[in-house]
Amino acid sequence: MPTLQDLGVDLFDPAIIARPHPFYARLREEAPIVYSEQLRGWMLTRYDDVRHVLRDSERYSSMRDPVLLGRRDVMLEQVAPPGTLTMLGADRPDHTRLRKLLAMDFTPKRIVRMQPRIDAVTRELLADVSRDKPFDVAESLAVPLPVRIIAELLGIAPDMYRQFKLWSDAATEPVRPDATDAQVGERNARIVEFRSFLKNEIDQRHRAPTNDFIGRLVAAHDDEERLTDDELLAAVNLLLLAGNETTTNLISNAVLALTRFPDQARRLREDPSLMDNAVDEFLRYDGSVQFTTRRLLADDEFYGQRVSAGESVVVVLASANRDPRAFESPDELDVGRRISRHLAFGDWIHVCLGQFLARMETHAAITALLEVFPNLELAVDEDDLVYRANFNLRGPKHLPVVAGEARRLEPGLVAG
Ligand code: HEM
Repeated sequence: MPTLQDLGVDLFDPAIIARPHPFYARLREEAPIVYSEQLRGWMLTRYDDVRHVLRDSERYSSMRDPVLLGRRDVMLEQVAPPGTLTMLGADRPDHTRLRKLLAMDFTPKRIVRMQPRIDAVTRELLADVSRDKPFDVAESLAVPLPVRIIAELLGIAPDMYRQFKLWSDAATEPVRPDATDAQVGERNARIVEFRSFLKNEIDQRHRAPTNDFIGRLVAAHDDEERLTDDELLAAVNLLLLAGNETTTNLISNAVLALTRFPDQARRLREDPSLMDNAVDEFLRYDGSVQFTTRRLLADDEFYGQRVSAGESVVVVLASANRDPRAFESPDELDVGRRISRHLAFGDWIHVCLGQFLARMETHAAITALLEVFPNLELAVDEDDLVYRANFNLRGPKHLPVVAGEARRLEPGLVAG
């Protein structure tokens, strides 16, 4: 069985990060199970295999080592002490306990109350954007919208969002194998700052209870001791990180998809009632989380390859969603496509808790953009877009667009 290394694949290669889908297609056909030394796990890329793993939480544990790509010879600070449980990294019954504490806050009924606020923030952000010059969708809308909304929900001052972005990038971007000691030191310093900020927010609520998300978690800790101090810190950290970079990238990837398929943008403008469906199609076509991992508790087998208890599997959600065995013409964006089973939010007990919020933010962002800029085009060649150095939470760092006929920019001006 070949390894990814044998196939010459480096997950830090900017060309793979920018265009992973041809690579996934090759794996699905030629090596549907393949070992990745960089991820230290078996990669699965076909829809049925990915779903099989996600739906068997008895055999496939979420209590896995964090994926530490890149330099492993240095100490990487974590926000919560290593080993602290979060719902994302727990199995039943801990998973049920930790998820239940927050599930009530994330029901569609609760989240829909945020709609006016999400619309208002979207419009406010777009009001500052120039109508006749190229602008960066990432910086103007896709980055600030989710950060501001999650900060408000958690009960943190919205003007902290620029600072959050720095912390969140430090916590979510892998440390490259060629990172210098100074870069690792800077990354660690940001994580320590982030930790003391969160601890301070939590301490304030121990003294003066509040009714925001953090306040309710603190109350669950203080009144019923349903989670430990470290679990409390880890839960707040999880919400901030999970609710941030993922939605940013979904919004950017959706805008990029619409510039690739202008007929679909036109269809959406003419029939805005397609938008709910379109958001799911954006998730299927180019969802922002590429993969998740599980650790085997009992042996399994794929295509004659035994995978043993204790080993890890990497299930590539983004590849499953483009598997022609599951979706007709999977590389086409079709906003009218009936999709009921994409895996962009995972599946089963760990299915994304924030999916209604993410959908609502993306709905608001794309609706407003199409309204204000009916003929949105990329302002650079797609090949010149620069992606964040993150193979998993994947999206462009900058996304310069222009309303219709305005001139195209020279690539160097926006590559940043
Ligand atoms: C486009 C945006 C998003 C995408 C693509 C996404 C994707 C995912 C995926 C794939 C998982 C499952 C991981 C696994 O099974 O290992 C997950 C879980 C989770 N997501 Fe999201 N997410 C998004 C937005 C959000 C938002 C906005 C929030 C919260 C504010 C959020 C909170 C969570 C949490 C708490 C979990 C853990 C659930 C559990 O383990 O029970 N996510 N998400």
